[in-house]
Amino acid sequence: MDTIDRAGRFVPPHPPRPSGPVPVWRGFVGERARTAVYGWSERAFTLPYFKRRVFGHDVHIPLDPDLVQHVLLDNAANYVKPDLVKKLIVPTIGRGLLSSDGPLWREQRRIVAASFAPAAVDMLVPVFANAVRTSSLGWSRQGGIVDMAAASTATTMRVIADSLFAGDPRLTSEAAMAHIAAALDGVSEARLQVLLGLPLIPWSRRGLAGRRGQIYLRRTLAEVVDDRIGKDGEDFLSKLIRALEARFAPGEARELAIDNAATFYLAGHETTANALTWTLFLLAEQPDLQEEAAAEARAALSAGEEGIVDRLALVRRILEESMRLYPPVPRFDRQAVAADRLGDHDVAPGDFVSIWPWLIHRHKRLWDEPDAFIADRWQDGAAERHRFQYLPFGGGPRVCVGARFATTEALVILAGWLADWRFDPVPGREVRASGMVTLRPAGGLPLNVSERR
Ligand code: HEM
Repeated sequence: MDTIDRAGRFVPPHPPRPSGPVPVWRGFVGERARTAVYGWSERAFTLPYFKRRVFGHDVHIPLDPDLVQHVLLDNAANYVKPDLVKKLIVPTIGRGLLSSDGPLWREQRRIVAASFAPAAVDMLVPVFANAVRTSSLGWSRQGGIVDMAAASTATTMRVIADSLFAGDPRLTSEAAMAHIAAALDGVSEARLQVLLGLPLIPWSRRGLAGRRGQIYLRRTLAEVVDDRIGKDGEDFLSKLIRALEARFAPGEARELAIDNAATFYLAGHETTANALTWTLFLLAEQPDLQEEAAAEARAALSAGEEGIVDRLALVRRILEESMRLYPPVPRFDRQAVAADRLGDHDVAPGDFVSIWPWLIHRHKRLWDEPDAFIADRWQDGAAERHRFQYLPFGGGPRVCVGARFATTEALVILAGWLADWRFDPVPGREVRASGMVTLRPAGGLPLNVSERR
């Protein structure tokens, strides 16, 4: 249950925190196997570092921002994407930007960089604003319950399809949405198989649906790529195909184009949808703050779309605080190439390092009132913060290439929704975080949505 603390601050719900350490095997049964952020002990939010042994692998968990900086930036070349993680994600996103390392990663990052530069992102504001207009077409003016998790996914799907894939309708269908949800859901089962060194054969209904989801996505994106090969389209994907063809043999270029289409399609909308969903949940629970944000949004929109994000200072603070409390990517991993020291701790070649925004963002030594929602902490305090204590987009050379895109998109969508609509909780409905790869409310986020007058 959420609460109000003694200072009158809103403290949203978080999973129960046992006082003692939670045994590793618990990570593979029950709720902990479905929800990455479930079952962390109180102590985990107080330590600078700890180590776990998971099925014969040493996993280092640095929480001190200096140690995190060491892994993600100072000695980033020694920490690559783990083989086990690649086994899990390669069937869906191949060797695209997110899942490659070394020269192949560098080449792909260079190719896409220009499309995500600040000027290129600013030009997309009308695309984001248009997605807002279509998103609310089915909402009743008199008010009614809308699943805002599904609405957020549909809207960010439209944005990614319109801004990167020339609005291809195959990428915004209901079937695509269902298959993506199934593919992400199937990861928990596959994760256990990969850790145990078993072949990736789905054995449950969930696993089978996940596999079908992966196959659907790959097949659809292969069609989308093949339609563009040899044509002189100007959308992101067409330009990417030409850049890949200039550097790789035709077969490999096609494969990498499909891998990156899947990478950008998936990484580019599910995460942003979760950020929007959590922000709306937190605003629905704080009606006064929502009113202030709505007033700012109306004023910002009345001055036109150009430069709008600069006029959304409060909405930005709210979004930042929401991603602190509910990081859409609650953990990400690396594997050491060579031996290293992490503070006082030895790292052996092949060891894993898990970076946990979920733990770091609520760490008791790093934040005042870590579990409370305090948007204003983003107004003052920025100077005292370590840049590796807030990591919704990761950090170092592999920081999210779409961070500015996602932030601008989320601000424009929130402003559009808040200006015209009010979001209230559905009485009696509890919200619980769920997901192994990304963090979303279990069972969606039904809210009472009514038109502002
Ligand atoms: C709120 C929304 C988003 C969040 C929270 C988020 C989070 C992240 C994180 C944590 C990483 C780093 C993972 C690691 O280091 O292992 C990452 C990488 C990445 N993200 Fe995002 N992301 C978001 C939106 C987007 C968008 C909109 C796009 C594209 C349009 C995108 C594309 C990517 C790609 C391609 C990478 C891999 C970059 C590389 O390895 O060079 N993301 N994201």
